[in-house]
Amino acid sequence: MAFLTARNLNKTYRLSRRNVVHALRGVDVTIEAGETVAIAGPSGSGKSTLMHILGLLHLPDRGYDPTPILVFDGEDVTAMPDRDRTRMRAERIGFVFQAFNLVPTLTALENVALPAEYAGQSRKAARAAAEDALEVMGIADRAGHRPVELSGGQQQRVSIARALVNEPALLLADEPTGNLDSQNTAELLELLRRYNAERGQTMVLVTHDPLVSAACSRVLTMRDGVILEE
Ligand SMILES: Nc1ncnc2c1ncn2[C@@H]1O[C@H](COP(=O)(O)OP(=O)(O)OP(=O)(O)O)[C@@H](O)[C@H]1O
Ligand SMILES: [Mg+2]
Repeated sequence: MAFLTARNLNKTYRLSRRNVVHALRGVDVTIEAGETVAIAGPSGSGKSTLMHILGLLHLPDRGYDPTPILVFDGEDVTAMPDRDRTRMRAERIGFVFQAFNLVPTLTALENVALPAEYAGQSRKAARAAAEDALEVMGIADRAGHRPVELSGGQQQRVSIARALVNEPALLLADEPTGNLDSQNTAELLELLRRYNAERGQTMVLVTHDPLVSAACSRVLTMRDGVILEE
């Protein structure tokens, strides 16, 4: 069975009675364990919306025919109680947000330690794991800085460290190299290639960078809320 199976995902944002955006219009996608998948497509095509659903942050809309399906490692997550879904996300999924979403009042180290604590580690173990993750991302010397005291590329590397801190089975990253120079992009790609080879980590990356998609095993293209033929 596939690692991730999604069928007929729809997502509608209803801002008012007249202002409705149908961001996903029946997305089908299957991802095997250990795959590295790039998602490309124009602005507004639904890439981030899809990532948020695959990352169990949001649920697809109900009431479509055929019934939407989202199966993560053999478990139907649409039918799962919120608590279980939250735990599954905390323990198994790392998410790099397009806008980083670092907590402004916390230092880099505290930001990265947070998901380790959510996943049940002691404060001390979480800090140690966070130090390692910052080291791996080459940003350990900024551990005590808060997000406003970091450049865009540094914040991006902290947000990647946060996504990797629990060694997640699935890494979802929304434009992870958007603020990195070519040197840092190359280093990140090498790191992800290694995690994929050594840990069998499955990855889905939204990217506009041909270097990043070339490093993936498959490229999906979105347009107007659907995935086009591969
Ligand atoms: N929270 C929201 N409320 C209302 N509309 C939204 C919301 N989030 C996204 N949308 C709309 O849904 C559509 C898809 O947005 P999404 O963020 O998924 O696109 P994207 O492919 O990630 O674009 P980009 O490349 O610019 O990041 C867009 O038309 C957007 O305006
Ligand atoms: Mg986006």
